[in-house]
Amino acid sequence: MVVIQNNNQQGSSLLSKMATNNGHGEESPYFDGWKAYDSDPYHPTQNPNGVIQMGLAENELCFDLIPEWVVNNPKASICTAEGAKDFKDIAIYQDYHGLPEFRNAVAKFMGKVRGDRVRFEPDRVVMSGGATGAHEMLAFCLADPGDALFGTHTILSRNVVANYDSYGCRFGRDLKWRTGAQLVPVVCKSSNNFKVTRAALETALEGAKEANINVKGLLITNPSNPLGTVLDRDTMRTLVSFINENNIHLVCDEIYSATVFNQPDFISIAETIEEEKQCNRDLIHIVYSLSKDMGFPGFRVGIVYSYNDAVVSCARKMSSFGLVSTQTQRLIASMLLDDNLIQKFMSESAKRLAKRHELFTKGLAEVGIDSLKSNAGLFIWMDLRRMLKDPTEEAEMALWRKIVHEVKLNVSPGSSFHCSEPGWFRVLSWPNSLTDLCSIIFG
Ligand SMILES: Cc1ncc(COP(=O)(O)O)c(C=O)c1O
Repeated sequence: MVVIQNNNQQGSSLLSKMATNNGHGEESPYFDGWKAYDSDPYHPTQNPNGVIQMGLAENELCFDLIPEWVVNNPKASICTAEGAKDFKDIAIYQDYHGLPEFRNAVAKFMGKVRGDRVRFEPDRVVMSGGATGAHEMLAFCLADPGDALFGTHTILSRNVVANYDSYGCRFGRDLKWRTGAQLVPVVCKSSNNFKVTRAALETALEGAKEANINVKGLLITNPSNPLGTVLDRDTMRTLVSFINENNIHLVCDEIYSATVFNQPDFISIAETIEEEKQCNRDLIHIVYSLSKDMGFPGFRVGIVYSYNDAVVSCARKMSSFGLVSTQTQRLIASMLLDDNLIQKFMSESAKRLAKRHELFTKGLAEVGIDSLKSNAGLFIWMDLRRMLKDPTEEAEMALWRKIVHEVKLNVSPGSSFHCSEPGWFRVLSWPNSLTDLCSIIFG
């Protein structure tokens, strides 16, 4: 990522307030770590003292399974002798509903990832530019400027109503920046392993009401980023009854659903509402993408799957702003419809994720570092509270700067996820020699 520093105040003043309000969050530690990595990237021979990237949740574990498939399926691309005759059909304008085979393939894949316990209707699949675009699309459909969604992904803040501009986390950008919606964090604590409780939800909602904020929905990530945990059945039921009682939407970001590598199983909202028959389905929406489960963030395949017909219709009109290119749809449809490839990919991915998670957490434990027990995701929620000079965000940032600039590891401080307890860090689990890595960090 190349960042152009804009020191030209005059230039900025010519732009809209919305464009220049720092809603993107590029000034946050999350992006500072990226910049440190970009300017000095680690390379085993050319730059062995460079910064190692452990802040970017990218799943590169199973890429070795893909090239053979690409070679054996030349028709999936228009850039091959076998696919070239379709070049024109793919290059011209397409229906912005998406290719039927693409929507069928995505719906089938979403079902497969959930153990075929639920079915998804291709007609409810709406395309967007990654999950990033899907979140913005839903915020636009559900909230007017000033309305709030409250979220458990960004677990937390000292204030009930956070000023996300100053924190600039991912969801601040995705949901707030261009829609004018607000985000209100739900405070979860380490004392109960950051579980989402009804009391925490009620406190957040009450706080928003007291601040005269109109809350339109609840946003969860399940499996959780940054925790790497899945929500249990009781919690899912609590969420469903809570949003129904308060007549607010439930947006479930399930983009890590195929990264679950151990028990307990992942329970999708799609399964929960099958059991909770009284649930008003018009309130339920899923955000999905292939960025994590397949490790394809570059393809920008994002999905809104809504049970609300009006949302499907509105989101579809919006999808013109972030369509997945037709060539990508064609390639992805062929891949996702290949049962052998997907079966092998899913089981191998879970095995490899489990292995690197085990190695990493054991390595941390050997050097006396705890982490939250987790069974999903690409990262570990590491507890470095003992290493802080004092329990403040400033101390967390001081430790983080040491880790990035002296130890040369880009990890993500808890404050960039709005964690209310300083000292937690999200670190990507890594397939390299973990013993060596731990000695680099803590030796
Ligand atoms: C929970 C969550 N949602 C959405 C996204 C954005 O995904 P995409 O690359 O598909 O836009 C991320 C990426 O890190 C994420 O962790």
